[in-house]
Amino acid sequence: MSIALASQLREGTKKAHTMAENTGFVRCFLKGVVEKSSYRKLVADLFFVYSAMEEEIGKLSDQGHPVVAPVSFPVLHRRAALENDLEFYFGDGWSNLIEPTLSAKEYVARIHQIAKDAPELLVAHHYTRYIGDLSGGQILKNIAQKAMNLGEHDGLRFYEFHDIDDEKEFKALYSQTLDSLPIDQNMATRIVEEANMAFKFNMDMFEELEGNLVAAIGKVLFGFITRGRRPGSTED
Ligand code: HEM
Repeated sequence: MSIALASQLREGTKKAHTMAENTGFVRCFLKGVVEKSSYRKLVADLFFVYSAMEEEIGKLSDQGHPVVAPVSFPVLHRRAALENDLEFYFGDGWSNLIEPTLSAKEYVARIHQIAKDAPELLVAHHYTRYIGDLSGGQILKNIAQKAMNLGEHDGLRFYEFHDIDDEKEFKALYSQTLDSLPIDQNMATRIVEEANMAFKFNMDMFEELEGNLVAAIGKVLFGFITRGRRPGSTED
C-alpha cells in the first residue's frame, strides 16, 4: 500500500508554514521592506544550506539511494543560481566575503548529520525548501525586485526555475514521487517531524536576520532623526 506522504507533509506542516509566514523578517519582506544588506545575508545563508543539501542528496542519488534518489530532480537545483546572485551582491570575491549566520550553521550541521544517520529524512528538507521556493517564488521575486530597485534578473536568479515550464504540473509530479517512495508509515511520520524541524531552522534564520534588518532600519531612522535635529535645523 502506498503512503500518502505528500498530503501528510502538506497537512503536517500547515501550522509551521503559517508561523514562518508570520516571522518579522518575512512580514517585512511581504510588505516590501527589504533592505539590501540583510537580504544579501539571507542569500548567503541560503547558499550554505543549498550547497549542503545538493552535496549530500547528490552523493546519495549517485549511490542510487531508494528514498533519496527519486526526489533529486536536477531542475530544482539552486546552488548555481545562488552563486550568480552572490556575485551580484558581493562582487567577484564573494566566496571570501560571506559566512553563515549561527542559525544557518546549525541548519547545515543537521543536514550533514542526517545524511550520515538517517538519509531518508533529507526528503523533508528537500520538500520544505524546494517546493516552498517553487510555490512562493514568483511573488517573492517581484517584491524583492521592486523593493531593491533591481533589473529583471539582477540578484534574483534564485527565484527562476528555467527548466520548469509548468509549476503546477511539476508539483503534481513531485507529489506522485513522494507518494511512491518505498517507506512505511513510521518513516513517513519521521519525515513530517523533520519537515517541521526544517521550518524551525528557517524561522531561526529569519529571526537572526531580522536583528540585522532592525539594526539597518534603526540606522536609517537615526540618520533621519539626527539630520532633522542638527544644529540650525529649521525642521524642529
Ligand atoms: C514569504 C512568505 C510565504 C508565502 C507568501 C508563501 C506562499 C505559499 C503559497 C502561495 C503556496 C502554495 C500553496 C498551494 O500550492 O496550494 C506555498 C506552499 C508552500 N510553502 Fe510557502 N510561502 C511563504 C513562506 C514559506 C516558507 C518560509 C517556507 C519554508 C521554508 C515555505 C514552504 C512551503 C512549502 C513546503 C509549500 C508546499 C505546500 C504543499 O503543497 O505541500 N513557505 N507557500
